Amino acid sequence: MTPDGEHEVASASDGLSPGRILISHTDIERRVAELGQEITADYEGRPPLLVGVLKGAFVFMADLARAIRLPVEMDFMAVSSYGTATKTSGIVRIVKDLDVDLVDRHVIIVEDIVDSGLTLSYLKKGLSAQSPASLEVCALLVKRDQQRVDLKIPYVGFEIPADFVVGYGLDVAERYRNLREIRVVDAVPTQ
Ligand code: IMP
Ligand code: MG
Repeated sequence: MTPDGEHEVASASDGLSPGRILISHTDIERRVAELGQEITADYEGRPPLLVGVLKGAFVFMADLARAIRLPVEMDFMAVSSYGTATKTSGIVRIVKDLDVDLVDRHVIIVEDIVDSGLTLSYLKKGLSAQSPASLEVCALLVKRDQQRVDLKIPYVGFEIPADFVVGYGLDVAERYRNLREIRVVDAVPTQ
């Protein structure tokens, strides 16, 4: 480990190796704590139901949930979006649906990253049809100026450039989800 606690990243032989650190683990910890405080203040008296979007959001969800000082409940959805390794098509397939009923619940969708916004827009439409009392979004990362749909996201961890990133739950081809920090991927596989 480096002094900041980052893993040493062995360079992969397949051209997928993560490059420079974009957001350190220390900065992630600080920001997640702030988001937890904001949500705690905003949801006083109406405990939220956190809906994590698998797989990418599992690390963020675990830390965020523990930063919220309210009796939160949690559920997960798994979606897979068609597209290339680094671009989604906006066509989303639900791989695992929710177990809980959303009627009259204060739902917060917890997402790892918003790029085009198509995945989130699809999810919001589906969840709002289930009559929650309120529906908001908390996204760890939002790629600046990449959204193809108009989305209001009240809780955003970091705005980042349009680079492809990995770590802290985010993958490329299922790798690097367990990095503690967020790194930019230098080269991605050609399809
Ligand atoms: P969107 O529908 O274009 O907003 O894409 C959102 C989904 O694509 C996320 O939930 C991620 O699974 C994936 N994604 C988008 N950008 C990245 C990235 O930079 N690294 C890893 N996954 C990403
Ligand atoms: Mg992914």
